[in-house]
Amino acid sequence: MNVEEIQCPTCAAPLADAHCAGCGASFQRGDTPDSHLLDHLASAQREARAAEVEAFYSVSPFPGYAPEDNGASLLDRSRRSGFLKALDMALPPDGQVIDIGCGTGQTAMFLSLAGPRRRVLGVDGCRVSLELAEEFRQRESVRNLHLLRADLFDLPLPRRAFASVICRGVVHHTPNPTHALSEVADRVAPGGTLVLGFYETWARAFHRTRRSLSKVTGRPIKALDPILRQRDLSDEKKRIWIDDQYLHPLEKILPLPWVIRQLKSCGLSVKRAIPPMPSTGAFFEADSGTLGVRTRGSWLAAGIKDPDAGLVCVIAERPHA
Ligand SMILES: C[S@@+](CC[C@H](N)C(=O)[O-])C[C@H]1O[C@@H](n2cnc3c(N)ncnc32)[C@H](O)[C@@H]1O
Ligand SMILES: [Zn+2]
Repeated sequence: MNVEEIQCPTCAAPLADAHCAGCGASFQRGDTPDSHLLDHLASAQREARAAEVEAFYSVSPFPGYAPEDNGASLLDRSRRSGFLKALDMALPPDGQVIDIGCGTGQTAMFLSLAGPRRRVLGVDGCRVSLELAEEFRQRESVRNLHLLRADLFDLPLPRRAFASVICRGVVHHTPNPTHALSEVADRVAPGGTLVLGFYETWARAFHRTRRSLSKVTGRPIKALDPILRQRDLSDEKKRIWIDDQYLHPLEKILPLPWVIRQLKSCGLSVKRAIPPMPSTGAFFEADSGTLGVRTRGSWLAAGIKDPDAGLVCVIAERPHA
């Protein structure tokens, strides 16, 4: 893609000298002429907590890439994740997808590689994470992925405009999850779908105990953490996991009924929760049986065996206008 072809992610007008000719938003492009990275925060003053969270992810960009990672290995690894495989199958092969809080962009990259006709936009507040994503994108010549540095509370993206919105592992790391949820939910178009991942109160209970114990012992207890016990995981990925799970400067937990209510007040209805993983092809289908106390009980019981440490997901939809 040529620089002249890069469009404003808000209004699709061309960008002239890092300013949008249509809506006036200002951006800075990545360092190379063929960069797909636009920076909406390059000259912005950030609120202290947001700056603190960015500083944290600059040292521990999440999720990390291994030096030997490439497009084929990313596709292969992602397809071994039941969740990502089902998400890819459920999303239209040629639609637009935005991933808010995409981190180093691995989900967005996977969805771009798996669906070359999709247009995928990964948004995050952390420049270092996005630069890793852009480096990988250039190396693997992924043309249908764009990256935008922006704050979730000041997104230069139109409201009610996107058919598929993903936001995983982000709202609970903001100072105001209620506001964060409404900013994310507001981007979903009528008839569109939100895939929201968050730390749920019951699901995260075991990890909270494990983390409290790690404070007593001075470091995480390997025997209690299935990720730290993995033999084939690099030391760097383990370090990033420890930072993310045990040392994060800003983390909240959100009860499922509260999330359902908040999304409802934003006009979205929650159709199902994951886990349990839906059967093939049913990812976006309603299953209200997953929204009650029985599901939360199974999340609580998953405890030490849960590789996601209490990160669960809901699928929500904005009804057609
Ligand atoms: C745990 S990572 C999740 C990354 C990715 N969604 C995933 O599932 O692997 C959380 C991400 O949220 C981003 N984030 C946190 N607060 C943000 C904010 N206010 N604006 C934009 N991004 C934010 C961080 O920079 C970080 O990359
Ligand atoms: Zn614009």
